[in-house]
Amino acid sequence: MLSVKNIIDTENLTVADVNLIMENTATFSEVLSRDFKKVPALRGKTVLNMFFESSTRTKNSFEIAAKRLGADTVNFSASGSSLNKGESIIDTVKTLQSMIVDLAIIRHSDSGAINYISSKINIPVINAGDGKHQHPTQALLDLFTIGESFAEFKNLKVAIVGDILNSRVARSNICLFKKMGMDVTLVSAPMLMPVNMDCFNVKIASCIDDVIEETDVLYMLRMQFERQEKKYYPSIREYNSFFSLDKKRFMKMKEKSIIMHPGPVNRGIEISEEVMENEDEFIERIKINRQVTNGLAVRMALIYLLLASDQLEKEYVH
Ligand code: CP
Repeated sequence: MLSVKNIIDTENLTVADVNLIMENTATFSEVLSRDFKKVPALRGKTVLNMFFESSTRTKNSFEIAAKRLGADTVNFSASGSSLNKGESIIDTVKTLQSMIVDLAIIRHSDSGAINYISSKINIPVINAGDGKHQHPTQALLDLFTIGESFAEFKNLKVAIVGDILNSRVARSNICLFKKMGMDVTLVSAPMLMPVNMDCFNVKIASCIDDVIEETDVLYMLRMQFERQEKKYYPSIREYNSFFSLDKKRFMKMKEKSIIMHPGPVNRGIEISEEVMENEDEFIERIKINRQVTNGLAVRMALIYLLLASDQLEKEYVH
């Protein structure tokens, strides 16, 4: 059993929770490799997807994950809903809860919105990303992906590069990676770093070249243009010279190191066109598509752990 009813952030997950999620993810990853990729463990349950902000990976993978578990899914769309008539988000969520759904998966552009909504309803909630705050399922799928490449997490050198200031992925990952004993360095320019850096208790570097040769996991963050209230960097060219991954830098990395990115990639900004074009050739090293695949298994694990009973587990999964 998880120690939490909702998955709002990575901070409130214990190491035992994380290990349980990783074990269940491995089980569902195996299920997804079968010819018949479904386990009807959640037949009769209904999962509500509410995305108030754009998404390709998270939204679709939650929907597929719920369906692979045999649950029904409802996709709430803000456009065309009674939000347009002035209904509040809380009343909207409560209305849908009254249609007897079992779990709500919510993305919202305001930091803290999911925590607030979860306090007003009585079904479990999974945060699918809230503003600059947290994206816990991204962090968990990232952790699982790292675990496929390395024997243990402890002391792995991870460099998280780019727009730390506006990134919920950075906040979720820093917390989870440190919890699992990794050695985290943030690489960015002062204007793309939060002011309260001390609270992260991590190392800081100001150029990707300072860490590229020693890093085991190079985690490239997306430039969050939609959350940038002003221009934080003089030019893309300037950004490229300090923070982007190009072929020359890639060739300097350790043979067993891996490259990650939460997607969507801004080609030519975080990662060069040339590296992205060779993604398939370096499939053992560039994990961007593998992260997406693992997202499905991790989300199956989370929905399952929040909704399934022990009896169902015995019957269908093992
Ligand atoms: N990584 C991620 O959250 O991608 P989407 O915005 O496409 O869901």
